[in-house]
Amino acid sequence: MKKLNIGMVGYGFMGRTHSNAFLKVANFFDLPYQPVLKALCARNAERAKAFAANWGYASVETDWRKLVVSPDIDLIDIASPNDTHMEIAVAAAKAGKMVMCEKPLGRNAAESEQMVQAVEEAGVLNSVWYNYRRVPAVTLAKHLVDDGRLGRIFHYRAKFLQDWTISSDLPQGGEGLWRLDVNVAGSGVTGDLLAHCIDTAMWLNGPIDEVSAMTETFIKSRKHNLTGKVEPVGIDDASAFLGRFRNGALATFEATRYARGHKALYTLEINGENASIMWDLHDLHRLQYFDHRDEGVLRGWRSIHISDRDHPYMSAWWVPGLQIGYEHTFIHQAADFLRAAGDGKSAAPSFREALQTDYVTDAVLQSAANRNWVKVGP
Ligand SMILES: NC(=O)c1ccc[n+]([C@@H]2O[C@H](COP(=O)([O-])OP(=O)(O)OC[C@H]3O[C@@H](n4cnc5c(N)ncnc54)[C@H](O)[C@@H]3O)[C@@H](O)[C@H]2O)c1
Repeated sequence: MKKLNIGMVGYGFMGRTHSNAFLKVANFFDLPYQPVLKALCARNAERAKAFAANWGYASVETDWRKLVVSPDIDLIDIASPNDTHMEIAVAAAKAGKMVMCEKPLGRNAAESEQMVQAVEEAGVLNSVWYNYRRVPAVTLAKHLVDDGRLGRIFHYRAKFLQDWTISSDLPQGGEGLWRLDVNVAGSGVTGDLLAHCIDTAMWLNGPIDEVSAMTETFIKSRKHNLTGKVEPVGIDDASAFLGRFRNGALATFEATRYARGHKALYTLEINGENASIMWDLHDLHRLQYFDHRDEGVLRGWRSIHISDRDHPYMSAWWVPGLQIGYEHTFIHQAADFLRAAGDGKSAAPSFREALQTDYVTDAVLQSAANRNWVKVGP
């Protein structure tokens, strides 16, 4: 196995999921590359050193500009907030590094277009961490749709519900709260949660052509942690849209941080002529499947426990009947990336594919602002 030296930017939530993925992936999957945790980059040297020691990174860097040109690094992995993605990815591509980037790709499609151009001009391998594609149950849903088992698809419904920003005392900006600062995040739940729903949806059911959306910012001003002043809130707290897929199916999507009681509930449902599928992040190892062609007296929803060796990714794990969890979706994405890299290819979604999601989220925000139907760009 060839070594592939990773330079990780960010040690937060995603810094941990990605580090864990790169550490474990070669123990469970047969791969052409062995990832090596070579350097960890974050601005606070002490905290970066502690993180690096915990996860086994060989070195620490406090300036990503130095990291991206380091001859020791093969792959730059961007696990820092959205306002850093474009600059780091473009510089990394220019330095000839492979680039993996957290979602959303840019703060808007204009930024993402520049990122796509940079990786394509440099000819470097690239991928975006839309990890929900790699939940084995969701991957199985993709196989069932592609096999034509659902028949013509009429409806695609998705929701991503949280409740952590309801308090008006919660400040915006700075560590842990950058998602509430529009300058850093780009948008609110539209780019954060809805983007996941849109990526999975277009992967399963093809392009979304037009949308009619509404967004709301329930708390209009909050103290900004970096300035200490009360400032207007620029992000959307809730975002919902109706849309049309190119294949004629109707789209109904909702994302919010104001659904009291829900911490991270991502659900999706697809209704086809012959069969329907439902999936729920809180029960992520199950796929609900209804097939109208079943014998009448036995017809009903099947709850398929995704733990058999012939289920996607599961032959790499434990014995049938034992399930896996959230962190494994990142391990699967790392495996797919390293396998594709062995063939000189980018693992899906590439930057170019992820840009399509940003065209939809831009259209959602535009539609909500103008209160009209908007055709999805470019
Ligand atoms: N795929 C998913 O399901 C998923 C889940 C959560 C977050 N994300 C995405 O991952 C990214 C990071 O989110 P998070 O939840 O890990 O955030 P976080 O706040 O937990 O961590 C961000 C990290 O970036 C570092 N950072 C910030 N600016 C930096 C800079 N200029 N140079 C180096 N490091 C810098 C911070 O110190 C911190 O370590 C975001 O783009 C977010 O949208 C994706």
